[in-house]
Amino acid sequence: MSVEYSVSPEGKRFAIPAPRDYKKELDRLKKEIAKQKKLNREIVVVMGVGFVGVAMAAVIADTVDKKGKPGKFVIGMQRPSARSFWKIPVLNKGISPVISEDQELAPMIKRCVRDKKTLTATFIYEVLSFADVVVVDIQCDYIKESIGDVHNGHAEMSPLEESLAIIAEHITPDALVLIETTVAPGTTEQIAYPIMKKIFQKRGIKKDPLLAHSFERVMPGKNYVASIRDFWRVCSGINSEARNRVSKFLKEVLNTKDYPLTVLDKPIESETAKIIENSYRATILAFLDEWSLFAERNGVDLVKVIKAIKVRPTHSNIIFPGPGIGGYCLPKDGGLGLWAYKHIHGFEDNIFKITPLAINVNDTRALHVAQLTRDALRNMSRPIAAADILVLGASYREDVGDTRYSGSELIVRKLTEMGAELKVHDPYLTHWWELEKQETYPKKGYSLARFFHNQEKLSNLKIETNLDKALKGADAIIFAVRHKQYLGIDPDELIKKTGNTIAIIDCFGILDDKEIRRYFELGCEVKGLGRGHVRRIKDEVRMQKTVGKHRLDKKI
Ligand SMILES: NC(=O)c1ccc[n+]([C@@H]2O[C@H](COP(=O)([O-])OP(=O)(O)OC[C@H]3O[C@@H](n4cnc5c(N)ncnc54)[C@H](O)[C@@H]3O)[C@@H](O)[C@H]2O)c1
Repeated sequence: MSVEYSVSPEGKRFAIPAPRDYKKELDRLKKEIAKQKKLNREIVVVMGVGFVGVAMAAVIADTVDKKGKPGKFVIGMQRPSARSFWKIPVLNKGISPVISEDQELAPMIKRCVRDKKTLTATFIYEVLSFADVVVVDIQCDYIKESIGDVHNGHAEMSPLEESLAIIAEHITPDALVLIETTVAPGTTEQIAYPIMKKIFQKRGIKKDPLLAHSFERVMPGKNYVASIRDFWRVCSGINSEARNRVSKFLKEVLNTKDYPLTVLDKPIESETAKIIENSYRATILAFLDEWSLFAERNGVDLVKVIKAIKVRPTHSNIIFPGPGIGGYCLPKDGGLGLWAYKHIHGFEDNIFKITPLAINVNDTRALHVAQLTRDALRNMSRPIAAADILVLGASYREDVGDTRYSGSELIVRKLTEMGAELKVHDPYLTHWWELEKQETYPKKGYSLARFFHNQEKLSNLKIETNLDKALKGADAIIFAVRHKQYLGIDPDELIKKTGNTIAIIDCFGILDDKEIRRYFELGCEVKGLGRGHVRRIKDEVRMQKTVGKHRLDKKI
C-alpha cells in the first residue's frame, strides 16, 4: 500500500496515518485523558488547528485555576488531510505550526506541550466523546467568482456543516459547543442547531445541543496571543444554560477582568456583531479610495490631510488605505452577511448597498498601483512590458508575514499580466505560497491567478531575502507595505544600489517630502496612492534645475 504524505511549509514530510494508527492514537489519548481527569482538569477539544485554533488552544491550555494549577487539558483536533496533517506532529513536538512575530506564542506552546502537559494534538474524532467543551475554529470561507463583485459568490458552508455533524455524532449531551468561526449570521440557530439536533435524536438524546457563539478578534503580529486572551469578547448561547456555560468558560480562560465580556441574548446577535464590525472597518477604508484618486488628480497629499483630520478625537480612527485591504477577514465577512440574508433568512430584496460596495472597492484598489507604475515608467520613456519591477512587501499589513489576500498579490498579478518582470522582497517571509503553489493554494482552482493572463511563470517567483541584491537593476520599485525596514531608506543609497534612475511608487505614505524631492533631483519619477502633491515637488525640482542651468549658462 502506498504511503501518503502531508508536507509542512518547510518541506518536512509526515506520513498520513494508516488505519492501524487510529487505534494506537485512541489508546494513547484514553490513557492521557484518564490521567488528566484524575487531576480534575476539564477536557477541551479545539477543532481546527489553524491560525486561530492554534493560539486559542494554547491560551486555554496555559490557564490556571484560582489555586494557580492548570484547570484544562486541551486537545487540538485536526483532519489528517494532506494539506493539514503535518500540524499535528509538529504541535506534539511543542512547536507552533503557525509562524508568528509574537514572542509569546512559541514558548507558550512549548511550555504547555512539554512542561505543563496541558496540550496535545490529534487526528481522531473519537476524542470528542471525552470533551467537556468543544471549541470550533474551522474556516467558513466566502468564495468570490469574480474580482470586484462580491454579490457573485457564496459562503462555503460544507466544512463547518460536516464538522458540526461529526461533533454531534460523538459528544455527550452536556458538552458545550462553542463556535468561534466567523459565520453567516443565523448559522448557530438555523444551521448548526438542526444538524446537531437531528443527530442527537437519532442517538436517542432528548436534550438540546448546548450551542454557543463567540467570535475571535485575533490579529496577526506581535500581539497575536494577547489579541485573544487580553481583549474584549462578545458571546451568546442558544438557551440560558448555553449562555451561562459559555460565559463561565470564557471567564476562566480569558482576561475578562480587564476586558469585560459582553453577553448578548441570541447567537445571531453575536454573529452579526462580528460581521458588522468587519464591514464597518472595510467601509471606512473603502471610503477613502475615491478621495485618494481626488488627491492624486488635484495636487493633494492625502497622508497629510488624514493626519490633520485625525487630530479631532471624533475622527481618530480614519486611516490611510494601502494598496487593497487584505487579511483573511475584511475581504470576506461582509459577503457572509449578504449570503445569510438571502440563503438563510430567505429574503430576495437587495438591502445591502454600502457593505458590498466597500468590499468591491477594497478588492480592486491594488489594480490602480499597476496603472501608476505604468504611467511613471512611461514618463521615463520606458515601457512597462519587460520592465524589471521590485515590489517591497508581500504581506497584507506592516511588520507581519501574512500574505492572505494582500494587495501586493494583485499588484504582482496585474503587472505580470502587463508583461513586466517581477521581483518581491519581504523581510518577514521566505515563501509566498499564493504564487509558488498557485495550482493548489489556497485550494485547487481558487487562486486569484484565474482572473489574470500569463500567470504561469509566477510559480517560479521566489521571495528575495537579500534587499541589496533585489534592488540591483530594477526599473521600478513599489513600496507596497509599511514594514519598518522600508521606512527612512536614503534615496541616494537606494539609487546607488539599483544602479539606475528608477520609477518609485509609494502605496502607503512611506516617503516623506524630503525623500520624494531627492528622488526627483536624482532623475527618478515618483508616484503614490493619494499623493497628488508629488507633481508639485517635481515641478519645483525641475524649476530649480532650469534656474541653476540658466545661471550657469550666464556665467559661461
Ligand atoms: N485569521 C484571522 O486573522 C482571523 C481573525 C478573526 C477571526 N477569524 C475567523 O476564525 C475562523 C478560523 O480561521 P483561521 O484563520 O484559523 O482558518 P484556518 O484555515 O487557518 O484554520 C482552519 C482549520 O480547520 C481545519 N478543519 C477544517 N475542517 C475540519 C474538520 N472537519 N475537523 C478538524 N479540523 C478541520 C483546517 O484543516 C484548518 O487547519 C474563521 O471563521 C475566520 O474568519 C480569523
